[in-house]
Amino acid sequence: MCGIVGYSGPGNSVGPIIEGLSRLEYRGYDSAGICLKINNELQIIKKEGKLDNLKKLIEEKKPFSHTGIGHTRWATHGEVTTDNAHPHGNEVFAVVHNGIIENASTFKKQLIAEGFHFKSQTDTEVFLVLLTKFYKETQNTLQSISKTFSSLSGNSAFVIIEKSSDKLYCIKRSAPLVVGENKEKREAYVSSDPFALIGFAPRIYFPQDAVICESIVSDQDVNINFYELDLKPSKRFKFQSNAMSMDATTKGPYEHFMLKEIHEQGALINKLAAFYIKNEGRKILEGLKGFTTPEWHITACGTAWHAGIVIKNYFEQINRQRASVDIASEFRYKNPILNKGEISLFISQSGETADTLACQELCKEKGIPSYSIVNVEGSTLFRNSDKNFLIHAGVEIGVASTKAFTLQALTGYLMGRAMEGTLDQPELFSEIQLLSNRIDELCANADSLKEVAEKIYSKKGFIFTGRGKYFPIALEGALKLKEIAYVHAEGYAAGELKHGPIALIDENIVNIAIVGPELLEKTVSNVEEVKARRGKIVIVGPKNLEEIEHLADAYIALDFEGLPNLSPLYVNVALQFLAYHIAKLKGTDIDKPRNLAKSVTVE
Ligand code: AGP
Repeated sequence: MCGIVGYSGPGNSVGPIIEGLSRLEYRGYDSAGICLKINNELQIIKKEGKLDNLKKLIEEKKPFSHTGIGHTRWATHGEVTTDNAHPHGNEVFAVVHNGIIENASTFKKQLIAEGFHFKSQTDTEVFLVLLTKFYKETQNTLQSISKTFSSLSGNSAFVIIEKSSDKLYCIKRSAPLVVGENKEKREAYVSSDPFALIGFAPRIYFPQDAVICESIVSDQDVNINFYELDLKPSKRFKFQSNAMSMDATTKGPYEHFMLKEIHEQGALINKLAAFYIKNEGRKILEGLKGFTTPEWHITACGTAWHAGIVIKNYFEQINRQRASVDIASEFRYKNPILNKGEISLFISQSGETADTLACQELCKEKGIPSYSIVNVEGSTLFRNSDKNFLIHAGVEIGVASTKAFTLQALTGYLMGRAMEGTLDQPELFSEIQLLSNRIDELCANADSLKEVAEKIYSKKGFIFTGRGKYFPIALEGALKLKEIAYVHAEGYAAGELKHGPIALIDENIVNIAIVGPELLEKTVSNVEEVKARRGKIVIVGPKNLEEIEHLADAYIALDFEGLPNLSPLYVNVALQFLAYHIAKLKGTDIDKPRNLAKSVTVE
């Protein structure tokens, strides 16, 4: 989705803005632009396509400006053209915008009737023109921002600069926005993601919805003011130190962020377990001890939805509590049955997925408390939840989610054990440590998975199958492969193949069969059904099981011993590597796959 970075200070704003936008590229976009205040003029440079196109234009002009805003746009209203790229500016203001203005067309018609002209097809320009109209009436920027924002509806974040000062203004509604400052360097920042400000702004603020932020840099200091829409000072913001380390912004020794993030999982699993079982996270989980609810309504999208199915299995098997799992874009329109005493649980890496947020609003309207399993502290989902269970995955840059899935599912497992009151059972911590070690071993021997990928990557289609607790892993494995290798893949319950999909099987189709120690014979018979129809077979199964190894064209042997609860997360890492190596052989853009965004902040 779109990215925003703004700077005001004694330095040249171009550097921090372009570096910040580069870090947000992973979120997906299709055009980029920057507006610089130079000699009391607002100069806009923007271009469709990748950030490199913008960098080339900037390189030619070599501009210097103390104040500027930049944007990477993921088209919602209006095609991917340079005119529609942000920033949008005129003789008074320049604006960048994330989100959607739902009543833009109504206001656009009205403004055109009043004689105003538009250069683009975007809803953002309606904000600019209306803001300018109000400014010409009031000569007061804050008042004009308040009136404009109050008139327009929809989930949006706006950042504004003006020709008449070096101030940065911003305001948002259910969209990510942070304001940063570097007191020592007398610099002010704004961004749609704190990750863009790592190393620039040691102090960041999260304004709540409908709070106008005004950053003022002077020769002596930098001040950030917060106002309600009536322009009274506001205290509706949270401060946080932006202490994330710089290594989060680099791939280190890895070829891709996705590979780095797969390798990070072992250590992050141990860190999360220590946080929730032994350290400050313990008191958060303790609050769940003995907790019961007639039903958990688990809602999410994509990979997070798969994690939701894993968590449903935990809540039902460990706690014998009913849990339903819905895809957010389905849940929000199905008039769900929600009863008093039930709990909604939203799972999201970004905490900004529009469909998931809409479901949270729906549940809150019905009086259903909302819990989140989320990665981004301060995200919209985080701020609007009654209880948050952070997964502490660190920044996940690869668009294809890997470590977030593992830690979402593990967090759900720990919640289940907390409700059961068994967080202190030694076998819990030892199984988690064993999972971490097994994943590290897998990472150390991933070349064997590369060899499997070499055997199958040219095949036409892939069917991932799994039974019981491995069924969501089959779904997740298929999604990973689709997203980064652009090949058709689907996940299926192993016992379901004969009810239709088996018609697909021939020598061009690969069945990636998860064969866990549970229900082994039944799952093996599903594999034999595929083999009988000349399908290619990759089995992900237990070590030293010669009696089934002969069935497979390739056998990925895993040590399931000692992982009675967490084996699905272990199997999933093997599938992450398989997808990664197939994508590498296909030569696709693994960290920024085509058509995808890291966080889908629009419907
Ligand atoms: C996962 O690999 C995908 N990038 C996508 O399905 C993602 O899981 C989904 O969009 C939900 O995102 P969220 O976890 O940030 O809500």
